[in-house]
Amino acid sequence: MGRVICITSGKGGVGKTFLCANVAAELARGGVRVLCVDCSVGARDLDMVLGVSDRALYHLSDAVTGRCDPMTAIIPHPEISCLSVLPAPQYYSPQDFEGGAPQRLIDALRDEFDVILLDGASGLDARAGIAMEVCDGAIIVVEPTPSSIRMADFAASRLMQAGKREMRIVVNRIDPVAMKKGLCPNVDNIIDSLSIGIIGAVPARAAYMTARAGFTSERTPFANIAARLCSRHVPLMRFNRVNQW
Ligand SMILES: Nc1ncnc2c1ncn2[C@@H]1O[C@H](COP(=O)(O)OP(=O)(O)O)[C@@H](O)[C@H]1O
Ligand SMILES: [Mg+2]
Repeated sequence: MGRVICITSGKGGVGKTFLCANVAAELARGGVRVLCVDCSVGARDLDMVLGVSDRALYHLSDAVTGRCDPMTAIIPHPEISCLSVLPAPQYYSPQDFEGGAPQRLIDALRDEFDVILLDGASGLDARAGIAMEVCDGAIIVVEPTPSSIRMADFAASRLMQAGKREMRIVVNRIDPVAMKKGLCPNVDNIIDSLSIGIIGAVPARAAYMTARAGFTSERTPFANIAARLCSRHVPLMRFNRVNQW
């Protein structure tokens, strides 16, 4: 039975899609059968980040509404054998996602995959709720900024409302020098503010701004998160200049 993990944040642009793609790639490289579902309906980009846009014929709405067989809509990644992608539709039709249809689809896919990662939409509205409602647990991506921390807190409350108790944070875009100088909240401040355990820390890197999964030069932060998702103990980075994410 596959585990369903939603990647959410409240705030947009904090790195959900990037994290989803790269953690999925690392899990798949380890032989875990992973499905990434782009739940950013109306703002699709996971297909692009994973380099499968030209293969995307059907999408999540087609699969949810039964317009096509879900396995027809799911794209096996051309380069990473255990990785598959279900793209989002370009337009959001709320009625497609009513009446428990997303839950039925995801439950039907649990037998086919070991891990299903849901790349959630930004915000806290019904669109963002699609991934939050159907997951078993969540990763909340947070940047070291007050607005991102506040939105992460709102996202945690939204998950609690949906009855989800299992959640962890990933602190993205870490700049150890800025943290040391007190120019932004540090990782301890963020954990204390949110009272949620941490599953990973990812540095801010210029190379990540355009990276595609599988082509990220520094894969360690994502490999560590993938290992922790598989219950392997990997110590957290030391927040100094030595890169040990
Ligand atoms: N740690 C990082 N360092 C540098 N750039 C990053 C990092 N994480 C994400 N990005 C970049 O930030 C942009 C927004 O990330 P994205 O994953 O699309 O955010 P979201 O899905 O939360 O809206 C993308 O161009 C992505 O490559
Ligand atoms: Mg996104």
